[in-house]
Amino acid sequence: MKLTNSQIREKYKKFAPKYDLLEAIPDFLVLRRFRKRLLQNAHGRVLEVAAGTGRNFKYYKNCKVTAVDITPEMLNIARKKSKKIGLNAEFNIMDTESLKFKNNSFDAVVSTLSLCTFPNPFKALKEMSRVCRKNGRILLLDHGISSSRWIRSMQKKMAPKHFEMIGCRLDIDPFGIAKKAGLGVIKSKRHVFGMFYIIEAKPKK
Ligand SMILES: C[S@@+](CC[C@H](N)C(=O)[O-])C[C@H]1O[C@@H](n2cnc3c(N)ncnc32)[C@H](O)[C@@H]1O
Repeated sequence: MKLTNSQIREKYKKFAPKYDLLEAIPDFLVLRRFRKRLLQNAHGRVLEVAAGTGRNFKYYKNCKVTAVDITPEMLNIARKKSKKIGLNAEFNIMDTESLKFKNNSFDAVVSTLSLCTFPNPFKALKEMSRVCRKNGRILLLDHGISSSRWIRSMQKKMAPKHFEMIGCRLDIDPFGIAKKAGLGVIKSKRHVFGMFYIIEAKPKK
């Protein structure tokens, strides 16, 4: 299952006006806690890749945020949100798999709910590692394959349709991807039948 960047962009262009409304319930029930927990480890110069509509912005404290995404319509919403809350942020339309930043430019690099969308998550993590300084942090929150056999089989059944709809893979293993990409995992935790993964890691250098 693979989409090109322009196919992903087309999907998120349509999705952008509804994204915050559709995310409000999962965010209220579980995600806001996970976002807050993950982002308390973000300090200094922070790169957020695939930042979408900026749902993480309210959790950054004393950070200078650079937010990138390939979908301008998503990032436009994020830009308005940052102004509203007075976040020190700048924005770039950019592919995570080919970042236009110098090596070691950031103290932390964040990706939430995006590994599932990147056509090549290994390439994305390699780039995220490259632009993160040696003792910096790669902070990941994603959904993935559940630890419950029953939910796992549902996820596998629903995966093709879900992917066709929004280009998101329901059955990835974020922890396996992070390990295979060579990140130095410091902490990782799964929640809600093992469906949500929070990972704090050191970049591969
Ligand atoms: C499910 S949304 C997640 C948005 C946000 N991170 C959040 O937690 O709500 C996925 C986002 O990834 C973006 N995206 C997909 N592939 C990308 C890539 N290669 N580089 C940058 N952004 C990408 C999409 O445009 C979309 O905004």
